[in-house]
Amino acid sequence: AQLLALHGPNLNLLGTREPEVYGRTTLAEIDADLRARTEAAGHAYASLQSNAEHVLVERIQAARGDGTGFILINPAAFTHTSVAIRDALAAVAIPFIEVHLSNPHRREPFRHTSYFSDLATGVVCGFGADSYRYALDAALRRLAPPS
Ligand code: DQA
Repeated sequence: AQLLALHGPNLNLLGTREPEVYGRTTLAEIDADLRARTEAAGHAYASLQSNAEHVLVERIQAARGDGTGFILINPAAFTHTSVAIRDALAAVAIPFIEVHLSNPHRREPFRHTSYFSDLATGVVCGFGADSYRYALDAALRRLAPPS
């Protein structure tokens, strides 16, 4: 099956964006690590970063027909705002893990609510770039074995 990683707004700036909060690892480095681990487990890897809500919605809709068996998503600021992305994930009914580099619960109150957590298989947050690695391990365990 395919693992789809979705990265929300401003995550294209990882590496230079508020490094004291988000670390110095770039999104390209995170993606390369996820791809290598996913392919080593015998699965296909696809990813998309977008700053636009509708692009993420359309990619999630397309996942219904492209063999995606699991989604990792860091909705970034859309975590706290996007009913549309939430509804897209509910519509396609593909299991997903919500990922954050920071721990939103120890930050500003407006980051304490997520439109995703109650639909997610699980949530991994607070471990910097390692959050993605831990989430990927959990997703790989749940993907159907490669055929
Ligand atoms: C984030 C946390 C969000 O609150 C924030 O808007 C982001 C990144 C994280 O990965 O820590 O852009 O999702």
